[in-house]
Amino acid sequence: MKPTDNPKTYRVKSFGCQMNVYDGERMAELLEAKGIAPAADGEEADLVVLNTCHIREKATEKVYSDIGRLQKAGKKVGKDPIIAVAGCVAQAEGEEIMARAPAVGMVVGPQAYHRLGDMLDRAVKGERSTDTDMPEDAKFSALPKRRKVAPTAFLTVQEGCDKFCTYCVVPYTRGAEISRPFSQLVDEAAKLVEAGAREITLLGQNVNAWTGENAKGHAVGLDGLIRELAKLPDLHRIRYTTSHPNDMTDGLIAAHGEIDKLMPYLHLPVQSGSDRVLKAMNRSHTAESYLKLLERFRQVRPDIALSGDFIVGFPGETEDEFQETLNIVDAVGYAAAFSFKYSPRPGTPAATMDGQVPREVMDERLQRLQAHLGRDQYAFNKASVGKTCDVLIERKGRRAGQMLGKSPWLQSVFFDSDLQIGDMVRAELVHAGPSSLEGRVLETATA
Ligand code: SAH
Ligand code: SF4
Ligand code: F3S
Repeated sequence: MKPTDNPKTYRVKSFGCQMNVYDGERMAELLEAKGIAPAADGEEADLVVLNTCHIREKATEKVYSDIGRLQKAGKKVGKDPIIAVAGCVAQAEGEEIMARAPAVGMVVGPQAYHRLGDMLDRAVKGERSTDTDMPEDAKFSALPKRRKVAPTAFLTVQEGCDKFCTYCVVPYTRGAEISRPFSQLVDEAAKLVEAGAREITLLGQNVNAWTGENAKGHAVGLDGLIRELAKLPDLHRIRYTTSHPNDMTDGLIAAHGEIDKLMPYLHLPVQSGSDRVLKAMNRSHTAESYLKLLERFRQVRPDIALSGDFIVGFPGETEDEFQETLNIVDAVGYAAAFSFKYSPRPGTPAATMDGQVPREVMDERLQRLQAHLGRDQYAFNKASVGKTCDVLIERKGRRAGQMLGKSPWLQSVFFDSDLQIGDMVRAELVHAGPSSLEGRVLETATA
C-alpha cells in the first residue's frame, strides 16, 4: 500500500446479526470522533469498513467480491479507497485476507475494533495491520460516547458463546461468553435515551446468560438489568435477543408478567424438533423441554409472540426427523422465524460428520418448512386484526406518504397518515398481510 491522504469520508457496511449492526454503529462513532464524515448516498467513500459475517458459507467469497467492486468503483472516480475488513470473517480468516487481498489495509476482529483509529493512522502511512486479539471487555470502555440515535437502538450487553453447537462458528469468532458490567450498561442506556432512543433491544449471542452486580452489590440476571432500565422515564420499550433455552431463568420468565415496558416477544431458537438431531447439534435441550419452557412464558404472558431459528439438513437428518421439526413448528405457532439450510463451516465438528444431506433435499425441506412458518406468521397477523396497541414509528414506508412502525409483537404496521419518525401512536390494527399489518391511528404522542 502507498501512503495516502487522511480519509475525509467513510462508509460502514454491516452484514449478519444485530450485534454486527451495533458494532458497525460504534465503529462509525469512532470514525466520526476522528473527524471523518459519513459518505453521502451514491458517493464513493475514502474509507470503507466491511463488517462481515461468517455464519454460513460464501460469506468469505462475498468479502473478496466486495473488495473487487470497491476497487473498481474507486478507479472510476480516480481514488483508491482505504479498505478495512472487520467482523467475524476478519476474526476467522484475518491472515488469509491480508495475503489474498493487497487492497485491504486493515483487518480488525469484533473484540478489537476500538483500536481501529490507531490502525487507520498507520494505514494512512502505508502500513497494513491485523488485530484479532480478544482483550477481555477492554473495547467498550475505550469507545467514544454514543451520538444521536434513532428511536429504536441496540445495546450489546453480552458477547461470545460457550455453547459450541457443533455446526456454529460463533464461539470461535466472538470468543468466550462475557457480560458487560451493570453500571456501564445502565449508563449507556441512559445516554441512548438522552440521544433519542425510545426502544432499546438488549443484544447478546446468549443474551439471557447475562449476569452482573447491581448498584447494591447483589448478583442479578438479565431480568434485574431490565428492571433497572425500565425505570428510565423516557424509555418506553425494552426487548432482548437472542436467548438460549438452557440459560432461561425463572426471573426472566416472571419479568414478562410484571414489567409493562418489556415487550411481549421472545426469540428462542430451537433449530430442530428431533431429539437425536438436537443431541448431535450439542444443543442440550429436547423438543419437550423447549415446549415446556414456551408454555411457562405463555402462562405469564398469554399474548407473547414467539419466534425461532431453524436449520434443515443437519448431517444425518432423515425425512422422519425433519417431520419432527414440522411437528414442533405446528405445535408452537410461531409469529416469526428464521430458517436456514445447514452450511458446513470449516473447523466445526459437524462439517466432517457422516451423512451430509444433498443440496436438493435441503432445498425441498427448507421450502416445506417455510410454507409452515409463513402460514403461521400470516395466521398470527390475522388474529391481531381488531386489536388496539401502541406502534412506535421507525421509518418511511415504500409508498409516498406511508409510515412504518412496530407493534409490541414486533409486527411491521404501516399507516397512510401524516406521522413523524419517533411518534408513538395508539392504533387499531385493521388489516393483515402475510408479513405486515395496516393500522388506523387513534391517537398520536411524540414519544
Ligand atoms: N445464539 C446466536 C445464534 C447466532 S447464529 C444468536 O445470538 O443469534 C443465528 C442462527 O444461524 C442460529 O440460530 C442457527 O439457526 C443459524 N446457524 C448457525 N450456524 C449455522 C450453520 N452452520 N448453517 C446454517 N445455519 C446456521
Ligand atoms: Fe452458535 Fe449455538 Fe452459540 Fe448460538 S448457542 S451462537 S447457535 S454455538
Ligand atoms: Fe455472523 Fe458473527 Fe453475527 S458470524 S451472525 S456476524 S456473531
